[in-house]
Amino acid sequence: MDESQSYLDHAATTFPRPPEVLDTMLAQFAAMGCSPGRGGYDMAVEAEAFVQGVRQRLASFFEAVRSDRVVFAANATDALNLAIFGLARPGIHVVSTRLEHNSVLRPLYHLQQIGRIEYTLVDFDSRGFVDPDDIAASLQPNTGLVVINHASNVLGSVQPIGAIGRICAQNGIPLLIDTAQSAGHVPIHMTAWNVSALAFTGHKALLGPTGIGGLVTAPDVDIAPTRFGGTGVDSHSLSQPRFFPQRLEAGTLNMLGIMGLNAGLDYVEKIGLPENRDREMRLLSRLHQKLSAIEGVTVYGSFPDGRYVPVLSCNIADVHPQDAGTILDGDYGIAVRAGLHCAPLVHEDLGTSPHGAVRISLGWNTTETDIDRAVTAIADMGAAR
Ligand SMILES: Cc1ncc(COP(=O)(O)O)c(C=O)c1O
Repeated sequence: MDESQSYLDHAATTFPRPPEVLDTMLAQFAAMGCSPGRGGYDMAVEAEAFVQGVRQRLASFFEAVRSDRVVFAANATDALNLAIFGLARPGIHVVSTRLEHNSVLRPLYHLQQIGRIEYTLVDFDSRGFVDPDDIAASLQPNTGLVVINHASNVLGSVQPIGAIGRICAQNGIPLLIDTAQSAGHVPIHMTAWNVSALAFTGHKALLGPTGIGGLVTAPDVDIAPTRFGGTGVDSHSLSQPRFFPQRLEAGTLNMLGIMGLNAGLDYVEKIGLPENRDREMRLLSRLHQKLSAIEGVTVYGSFPDGRYVPVLSCNIADVHPQDAGTILDGDYGIAVRAGLHCAPLVHEDLGTSPHGAVRISLGWNTTETDIDRAVTAIADMGAAR
């Protein structure tokens, strides 16, 4: 992309990566790209120490208690599958919400279809928020898991996890959160919020490459393994280790991904989470105000009052969202995501099914110019109707 183009699809994946992230990960992989925790030679020992350092860093980033409870996975979907399948004992009831991404909805639906669980999905309000009291009211005597997305990938709303965590803790029910859209945008206090397990992805606001993510768990939570294989330790045993992280990690780790994620965290720390958040909220507010003022444009959610990540969905007069996406790309050089955003129930409830909406999502390199370019293009498109 050149300067006349704008990438506004950071909620799908961030692009481009900061050059230092790419440079650092490639240099480290060139120097130390062996299998960590397997060989006894110096480079393997160094690689293992590096991986442990990244686990520690992630544990402190999410304010988790123990770094051995940081399990690497391929992405948030993979981590959510690990947690949901590993926690969903036969016969339990699960509480989740209509805000979820398919990475939660599909595992739950599958487990219900095979007769293993039942589940209840709690509604959200017109601004995209779930009421913790509705979670409390949905609990049943056999509820064994609450799973909720921290920030909506359609509306940007950030859920009150602390309040939901208190309810779960009072009832002894594990709380799993999906931070795919929040990690890197807002602070996450896993322990203070009583979160039992947290799934994250490396390629969005953590600024790493695709193919890396993970599951972070509280020390008292057991998650049954659902994949089995080599761990480099206890090789004499045919059983998967009981201890973490090897209990949930089988096979050679994605070293390039872990290096890139670490370099992404360096960059997030360099720009500063609070400073980045202020900048993103200023841009989101500008986008929200300007789009809301255009006749014929409907903006869903994203009332910029600090409880949002920089994601805004809208529709433009009677333009089909897919057409709007194609026109924004082809005529204006603006990349956005049109459609259902893998969150079909959100669109059902917004009344935007089956076509969905146009989602504009901001990231580390978004400028006022990008925002104004998108606003002008959308105003033009609306005026042409
Ligand atoms: C809310 C939410 N959860 C989960 C995911 C899945 O993330 P990944 O594609 O990294 O598995 C996404 C990705 O768009 C998301 O927005």
